[in-house]
Amino acid sequence: MTVPERQVHEFPAVIVGAGGAGLWAALELAREGIDTAVLTKLYPTRSHTGAAQGGICAALGNHEEDHWEWHMFDTVKGGDYLVDQDAAEVLAREAIETVLELEHMGLPFNRTPDGKIDQRRFGGHTRNFGEAPVRRSCFAADRTGHMILQTLYQQCIKFGVRFFDEYHVVDLIIEGGETRGVVAYRIADGEMHVFRSPAVLLATGGFGRMFRITSNAHALTGDGPALAYRHGIPLEDMEFYQFHPTGIVGIGILLSEAARGEGGYLRNDAGERFMEKYAPKLMELGPRDVISRAMYLEVREGRGIGGGDYVHLDLTHLGRAVIEAKLPDITEFARVYQGIEPITQPVPVQPTAHYAMGGIPTDVMARVVIDEKNTALPGLYAAGECACVSVHGANRLGTNSLIDILVFGRRAGRDMARHVRRNGVPDVPADVAEPVRAELEALRTRPVGENPNHIRAELASVMMDECGVFRTGTSLVRAYNVVCDLKDRYRRAQVQDRGRVFNTDLLEARELGYLLDCAEATVMSAMARTESRGGHYREDYPQRDDTEWLQHSLAYRTEGRPEMRYKPVSITHFEPKPRTY
Ligand code: FUM
Repeated sequence: MTVPERQVHEFPAVIVGAGGAGLWAALELAREGIDTAVLTKLYPTRSHTGAAQGGICAALGNHEEDHWEWHMFDTVKGGDYLVDQDAAEVLAREAIETVLELEHMGLPFNRTPDGKIDQRRFGGHTRNFGEAPVRRSCFAADRTGHMILQTLYQQCIKFGVRFFDEYHVVDLIIEGGETRGVVAYRIADGEMHVFRSPAVLLATGGFGRMFRITSNAHALTGDGPALAYRHGIPLEDMEFYQFHPTGIVGIGILLSEAARGEGGYLRNDAGERFMEKYAPKLMELGPRDVISRAMYLEVREGRGIGGGDYVHLDLTHLGRAVIEAKLPDITEFARVYQGIEPITQPVPVQPTAHYAMGGIPTDVMARVVIDEKNTALPGLYAAGECACVSVHGANRLGTNSLIDILVFGRRAGRDMARHVRRNGVPDVPADVAEPVRAELEALRTRPVGENPNHIRAELASVMMDECGVFRTGTSLVRAYNVVCDLKDRYRRAQVQDRGRVFNTDLLEARELGYLLDCAEATVMSAMARTESRGGHYREDYPQRDDTEWLQHSLAYRTEGRPEMRYKPVSITHFEPKPRTY
């Protein structure tokens, strides 16, 4: 079946996802006069960038001496030396001009008394190569991501970017080894649309919804990584998943690390600041992997609050003025979701699945690479959390995510502009949308089968319990077997809504398929890596092993088990050292 002419679109550049990475890339292209389409399954200003709270990292030095080299070092060390140092150098250097450009676009940052962008402390950011904490995270209260999204969206509108809201991209068009566009499903009426383009950026965000307790929005289902994986592109470093220490108990909504950056404490049932035992120098501002493990250990050893599975975030000593000026949103979250008044009461918190360090492999121009030699796939780009340019290695530092999406979104836009000047809009076969249309129709019309929500709930539980903060070979084998079984059951799943108009039931089922692919690659990569590093902690292999494992994993989809391959880490400045805090 062919897609009617009116549903075939031609654009020099197509961007999938309207978070910070996608919007900045679109802006770069539009400023060059390149007609650019942004496809988003949401509305742009509902993208998950808007949920980023505490800040964006750049060594501006507005409060105290700071340098991009220190930022680069912290990023490499925080990432447990699995960071590609050429990429970390780009990140730390370009962070400064990127944040200043945002300021000039009108982003309402908090200000120092002398009118500069205000900066606060965040975990793992230090001066002079680890000497002491430094104030490096630029912020707009605790709604920095929200402000970034609004600012970039306004700029995109000003420069004439074409938005296709509620278009859910369901396939990539890659033929003859090059990119030719995407297939999208229009949510309003269930019609398929083909976007022909020589340059496609995947900026679809993460896949935290594979876990039971997560800070991620419902939309974060690994669409970009799974589509790439289905087209033979490997997924890199999928075993490294970050748990943020301070999620709201039971529901996972984030309470920003900014709370600890402003001086908040973590306390166990005895009221002790237990981080003294685990990171005596940086305490509550140690890296997230270290703190999340410490919290689990406190709970395991019976020092959770009232014997439960959480600890306290204590802000009561900060005072009303600091809390209201610098942490307004998260205090409101605690009031609304927990009935707690943070000005006078400690807030119950537990680790929440927050951020994927792994994803679609790219080079520093955000071009997708497909093998151990970093061979680029012409015309395909990825940036932001769905990508793995490997600036975060095995563990990301707080506020390095917002700067990553902007620095590499910007680079993607610039390189796409170069690419589209050399490559016209490609032809695609008339029936290019047929395979994915047939898949969606089969799912929509299957007469009997299992409710996908049951499969999703089991996936979230097994990933949380067997492939979470702590892992063992045995737990990972269990997780792998369950994921395989769930994939099998998924093939026979049946949705309840048979309609075509706003069939979110169908799309959620489709998203579950993406989550299952991402989970398969995550568990397989974690089983293979017999060491502990950053966010990947194997209780049966508790040490980091640089001799065997100072390498990136690449998981390739096959008919059976994913195939694992490896590629070296780029080390340009800092030789790996044991990580102490
Ligand atoms: O805690 C936070 O505000 C989160 C920031 C981040 O993940 O970068």
